[in-house]
Amino acid sequence: MVKQGHMSATIIAIDGPAASGKSTLARLIAQHHGWAYINTGQMYRAVAYFGLLSNLTLPEDEFAAIGIAKSLCFSIKNRTLLVNGEDLSEKICLPIVEKVVSAYAAVPDIRSLLVSKQRDIAKTQSVVMDGRDIGTVVFPDATLKIFLVARAEVRAKRRHQELQDRGLDNLPPYEEILRDIEQRDAQDRERTVSPLIQASDAILVDTSTLSVQETIALIETLLKETPA
Ligand code: DC
Repeated sequence: MVKQGHMSATIIAIDGPAASGKSTLARLIAQHHGWAYINTGQMYRAVAYFGLLSNLTLPEDEFAAIGIAKSLCFSIKNRTLLVNGEDLSEKICLPIVEKVVSAYAAVPDIRSLLVSKQRDIAKTQSVVMDGRDIGTVVFPDATLKIFLVARAEVRAKRRHQELQDRGLDNLPPYEEILRDIEQRDAQDRERTVSPLIQASDAILVDTSTLSVQETIALIETLLKETPA
């Protein structure tokens, strides 16, 4: 339990590299318990998406990008992130956004703005939150911290399948998806501010050979074993 103001809430932090299955698991666990779900990657993606719409290029347009992060209003409805009241999930999952998002996520002022918005949303409720720095920076006192990993080839295959299932036009080949995932991992791990790193008290879960159901069962067991 984490004391937030006058109430105690459960906070589950799920961090890990790109396409490790964080959002699928986090949403299902939140649904199961009736908790909120916050996909923080979508917040960084939203900033990058509006940056692209404004033809911004980083690092040159950093100041304008920070302005976008400041201006966006995030809320949660039925475990879906709304940006200025709109569900942007389809638009922000596009490969064109994925190619630039790590550059936005590396800007310190963008990070501090979004971290404070993430803490605000979680102020009054139990949440499952996924991202890269939830257990290390956003909620260092989270009830349970999971660091979710899988081999890059497995993640690329899952991501390729997901895009295919969505019926994406111009589906990138598997090799390109793998290259992008590896590039994004490197950028997220090597940045100076809040790099992707396993918190010392996070539990490492490798899903390379686990199904979604097996992973959920494992996390539920860990949750039961976590002292209240
Ligand atoms: O989880 P995702 O692939 O949707 O994340 C998109 C990008 O945002 C990714 O490059 C890492 C970054 N990110 C971050 O730096 N910190 C977070 N808490 C969440 C995502």
